[in-house]
Amino acid sequence: MALSVLGVFLGLLLEVSTHGPSSVPRTLWRHEEISLAEFSEPGVCNYSTLLLSEERGALYVGAREAVFQLDLSDVSIKKNQVLWKVPEGDMRLCTLKGKSAETDCQNYIRVLQILDEERLYVCGTHAFQPLCDYLSLKNFTLMGKQDDGRGKCSFDPTHSFTSVMVDGELYSGTAYNFLGSEPIISRFSWPQRLLRTEYSTSWLNEPSFVFADVIREGSNSPDGDDDKIYYFFTEVSVEYDFFGKLLIPRIARVCKGDLGGQRTLQKKWTSFLKAKLVCSMPELNFVFNVIHDVFIVKTSDWRETVIYGVFTSQWGNMGLSAVCAYNMTSVDEVFSKGKYMQKATVEQSHTKWVQYNGITPSPRPGACINNQNRMQNITNSLLLPDKTLQFVKDHPLMADAVLPIGHGPRLIAKNVNYTQIVVERVTALDNNVYDVLFASTDKGFLHKSVVYEGGPHIIEEIQLLKSAQPIKTLLLSTQEGSFLYAGSDSGVVQSPTAFCDKYVTCEDCILARDPYCAWDTHAVSCINVFQKKDNRHHRRFIQNLRGDAEECPSARPRSIDRPDQMVVKPGSSAELSCDVRSQLAQVFWKVNGNVLTESPHVLLMADQGLLVYSVSPQDQGHYECWTVESAAGKNFTRLVASYDLRLELPEISLASDILNGDPPTSRTAAATTTAPPRGNNGNNNAAGASPLTPSALSSVPPPPLTRPATTANVYAAKPDTKHYVPPHDSDPREQGPEIKDPHATYLQYDNSKALLFLFLLFFLLFLFGLGYNCYMQYLPGPCLRLRAALLGSQKKPQREYAACEAGLMDKPDQAEPQRQNGAIRDTGYETEPECGNGKVTSNSYEQDSESASKQGPFDVNCESQPIEYADADAS
Ligand SMILES: *[C@@H]1O[C@H](CO)[C@@H](O)[C@H](O)[C@H]1NC(C)=O
Ligand SMILES: *[C@@H]1O[C@H](CO)[C@@H](O)[C@H](O)[C@H]1NC(C)=O
Ligand SMILES: *[C@@H]1O[C@H](CO)[C@@H](O)[C@H](O)[C@H]1NC(C)=O
Ligand SMILES: *[C@@H]1O[C@H](CO)[C@@H](O)[C@H](O)[C@H]1NC(C)=O
Ligand SMILES: *[C@@H]1O[C@H](CO)[C@@H](O)[C@H](O)[C@H]1NC(C)=O
Repeated sequence: MALSVLGVFLGLLLEVSTHGPSSVPRTLWRHEEISLAEFSEPGVCNYSTLLLSEERGALYVGAREAVFQLDLSDVSIKKNQVLWKVPEGDMRLCTLKGKSAETDCQNYIRVLQILDEERLYVCGTHAFQPLCDYLSLKNFTLMGKQDDGRGKCSFDPTHSFTSVMVDGELYSGTAYNFLGSEPIISRFSWPQRLLRTEYSTSWLNEPSFVFADVIREGSNSPDGDDDKIYYFFTEVSVEYDFFGKLLIPRIARVCKGDLGGQRTLQKKWTSFLKAKLVCSMPELNFVFNVIHDVFIVKTSDWRETVIYGVFTSQWGNMGLSAVCAYNMTSVDEVFSKGKYMQKATVEQSHTKWVQYNGITPSPRPGACINNQNRMQNITNSLLLPDKTLQFVKDHPLMADAVLPIGHGPRLIAKNVNYTQIVVERVTALDNNVYDVLFASTDKGFLHKSVVYEGGPHIIEEIQLLKSAQPIKTLLLSTQEGSFLYAGSDSGVVQSPTAFCDKYVTCEDCILARDPYCAWDTHAVSCINVFQKKDNRHHRRFIQNLRGDAEECPSARPRSIDRPDQMVVKPGSSAELSCDVRSQLAQVFWKVNGNVLTESPHVLLMADQGLLVYSVSPQDQGHYECWTVESAAGKNFTRLVASYDLRLELPEISLASDILNGDPPTSRTAAATTTAPPRGNNGNNNAAGASPLTPSALSSVPPPPLTRPATTANVYAAKPDTKHYVPPHDSDPREQGPEIKDPHATYLQYDNSKALLFLFLLFFLLFLFGLGYNCYMQYLPGPCLRLRAALLGSQKKPQREYAACEAGLMDKPDQAEPQRQNGAIRDTGYETEPECGNGKVTSNSYEQDSESASKQGPFDVNCESQPIEYADADAS
């Protein structure tokens, strides 16, 4: 089963990456184009813990060995700071345990929570001895009343971690020990009481915590239910057979009023339950199984709460990210009404998780204490019967999964790894409510998108960080004009939530389809409607979130009336720029009113500009750059730039320059040189014009014109092209043919070729491996059979090869070392021929090659079947 999961997966990766639904950001704002407030302190790094306090107008920042208080409206203003270093002795102890003094043994601030009016609660890793303290807000100093940080903060600064303060109690998801091997979801309440999870793989199995927050179900709940704290993490699955570690995104919850059990589950959660979060594309069987961050859009009625999560796939090198949204009602349904999973032992050693269909004890295991319990005199969890407690101890996992709204991702983006997400719910001028998603990437970018009826739309891509590094924390403040705060290893950045004023024309403003922006016909500018609420009624604003720019007043762009005059010397080159901001637009050029298709001297560049090289009299004329962008079912064609290209009359006297050695920088006509014209130089030079030669060009090579394939060339040859530098210079997708813009490239990429190429590659790899193993006589029997099979008939479908090879791809480093002992080993190849037959017993994929003889624990089914986690319901 697992094998087929991976096999289908591999095939689907290709399919998804070439055909799958996904979005391209419409506009890119580079770091230098926007002015963002930034903060960093010399010598301090890892600004990864942020805490907003809108009442105080403060942003608290936990960094390495320091806590800062910044001004919320301008983070470059530092209000306060306090250093918290590790004492010499603790540092020595830490290094003695084999940790690095420069990195591991520093004090990384990871908990920063508001405790009360006057104090923050601060915890740091403190040289692998987590420690907490109180930070007085009066004078911004640590109060020196140190608490043990075990179970509240991680030991290791690189370990995943989450925390939330709820009603003065600190909830954390972290590791409880030095090695980080004992995961824990805990609640710390004063004085010194810790409620925690059972240490068992059924409860938590190598979790990676991403988020925790409270949902206030308790306030005015008719059945007297409790507030709940939800945790989000990725963990290694226990319920699926898989040869690697199959990761599963989870949502878990505990009740705020939980006090633990009396005998069973003493000082442990009696309300810990977890369920699988599904984020997949059912139609393509593609699964996003690693969750990175969560944002909860809270409403007055908790039932209308929406949970947004960002996901990638465990097999992450395809660079696909997804945003899935979950309905709180469906979450609650799973926990309060769903079935439980149960551990069953099969074949002695091997355990399997199956759905439990027996009678569940009452009160319902894992439920919070409600009015009904109270009527039975069960007023707190200490009074819960042992039967209920024992059941929840053994059955923390729900059988039902939480499905996303719409049964699929809201948004899929390619070639990015989303790291964090925040969501702002806004009411646009059409009085509809939109959830605007802000997702940050591991390269320092931010995507702002909205899911409209017609599908997702990424409004803009904002380069928050100068250098390509992950954004570790992202917060949203809706006060004081709505700002985003991003923390990274190098500093803190503050960004507005909209860049309306960057859209200079009405069409651009409307085509952006940004709910924050509208065209103000009086001010003739694109304005942020949420910042100008006061005069909302006095002016005429145009906003059309379908992007229908027909409403715009027709105005002739300036450039039509006054084309830029370009006067060049014959034979030199002219660069006509065309600053197209929309990456969804198609660009075309017109010369003297005709659409430019092919012309010997022109070259469309990657930035949509036009390069006219070795300009001759025929090249003179009126040049126009147009864009066409589709929205609301219409095409909007706009003139972006226009030029009059004229030749400067050549000066005869300059001919001597050429005789003096024809310097490459010569911009004069090569009137007297006699080098043969280029092969593709199709235009006959008019009488009187000098024949032009390549040597007379500036450094531009004379490639065959037309835009495809050569654009990259020219791009490289002209490093001074200043208009538009593609975002990721080394990105291979920019090498593709037909570059329109770097983000749209893969849309035009020849899918079938890529597919074929990949299949061929896998096939060759497989053949090579097979050949090698045959040659080394590692595969006596199967090898011959396979050879016969291969040479005889080639009718085995490739899908199955891919399926089995997926195993190889997954852990390439394990097939190698096993080569030493010449016995028959499970290199993965052996399973190859049998795959078509259905079931194959293969060895555990762990490195125990000596176990080759014994019966493998995993039944691997190579048949292609829908993955959807292939639920193992042996009910
Ligand atoms: C801290 O920042 C440095 C770079 O500034 C980075 O190399 C390191 O991985 C960061 N450490 C953690 C724990 O984030
Ligand atoms: C959430 O679920 C409830 C009940 O199942 C349903 O009424 C509501 O429409 C759902 N909301 C969304 C956004 O899907
Ligand atoms: C609950 O406790 C009260 C007094 O302690 C008792 O009178 C009542 O019978 C109890 N109810 C149940 C359902 O046990
Ligand atoms: C996404 O992350 C994975 C794993 O960290 C990495 O291999 C991949 O190159 C990243 N992709 C992009 C587009 O950044
Ligand atoms: C818009 O232009 C595209 C080609 O660029 C064309 O296929 C499409 O039919 C046009 N749509 C409309 C509504 O004119």
